[in-house]
Amino acid sequence: MSEQKKEYTEAELAEMSRDEKVRLGLALDDVELVEYRDNWPVKGTRAERRAERAVAAWFALAGLSALAFIAVFVFWPWHYQAPSDPKAHFIYSLYNPLIGFFLGLSILAVGIGVVLYQKKFIPHEVAVQQRHDGHGSDEVDRQTTAALLADAGNRSGIARRSMIKRTAGFGLGAFGVGAGVFALGGIVRNPWATDGPDSLKHTQWMSENGEKTFLRRDTGNPSDVSLLRPEDIDPGGFETVYPFRESMRHNEEELAESMRRSDAPVMLIRLRPGSAPIKRKGQEDFNYGDYYAYSKICTHVGCPTSLFEQQTGRLLCPCHQSQFDVVHTYAKPVFGPATRALPQLPITVDENGYFVAKHDFIEPVGPAFWEREA
Ligand code: FES
Repeated sequence: MSEQKKEYTEAELAEMSRDEKVRLGLALDDVELVEYRDNWPVKGTRAERRAERAVAAWFALAGLSALAFIAVFVFWPWHYQAPSDPKAHFIYSLYNPLIGFFLGLSILAVGIGVVLYQKKFIPHEVAVQQRHDGHGSDEVDRQTTAALLADAGNRSGIARRSMIKRTAGFGLGAFGVGAGVFALGGIVRNPWATDGPDSLKHTQWMSENGEKTFLRRDTGNPSDVSLLRPEDIDPGGFETVYPFRESMRHNEEELAESMRRSDAPVMLIRLRPGSAPIKRKGQEDFNYGDYYAYSKICTHVGCPTSLFEQQTGRLLCPCHQSQFDVVHTYAKPVFGPATRALPQLPITVDENGYFVAKHDFIEPVGPAFWEREA
């Protein structure tokens, strides 16, 4: 049975040694220590040093992996390289696997180092505690708990294990810096700094020199350019299309990139005759007859809205089931977590009968980002 809890003044607590606080904390919690032994009663044995080196090695590995992660994250060539240059493409394709590998290895090594330290150096204890109603923490609880933790740390010998302290500092420090780089690295570049096709304001559909931007279908081979005309799509049908400009025709890299960029895919939909969706203010002439073009990138978190349900006239996003109504509205979300209509691409047909984009989207495609005006 626990001893009657008495009130302790701050002066009394200050006078107590850590051992006394440990014993008091145990008594107050009705804890009986059946076993509480040091892992290394004889100090400085070879086995103890071996255990110390093992823990230090994991922390060192965590630090080195974190540094490698930072180096790859910052310096590795991550810009897309077309398969036409196999070496550059191979190096580019290693970017994601490498940052994942080194970050994962760093987390794993920190975890193993901490668990190993706990197993090898924190005293083993077997304790029995009576259940009783909990009560809020007061000063006695706080000080006795702190004494218990400090006692465990002291018995683990951390004070004299300088190798572990140094490697843990290096491993955890580098890991912390890596986590910071990971969190902040993506927002270093100011998306408003440039106004070209690489800025968040624009997409691959932007023609910088007024060159015509055609709508092309995906034939599976970026070099095989297949342009679209109105008669290519049946009423109620649709096609996923990508931007194409004549200046790209002999540049394999540009052709491939124009189909790989996440802001490029567009759904070209031909509504059934007689459909009269509500048009968005300022976008009344964005369609060409029954043909409407919407970004394929979901405005929730950016999955492709790749399913078109003819019966209901809804585009469905398979990721979280957002639905966008293209028959009655301008692709407004009518179900699911998306809150913004799919951006509409203004289209028309040129003098040769091919679909072309009149200009870029007038709002950012994909998930919302900060300071978005639309
Ligand atoms: S990404 Fe489309 S619903 Fe979530």
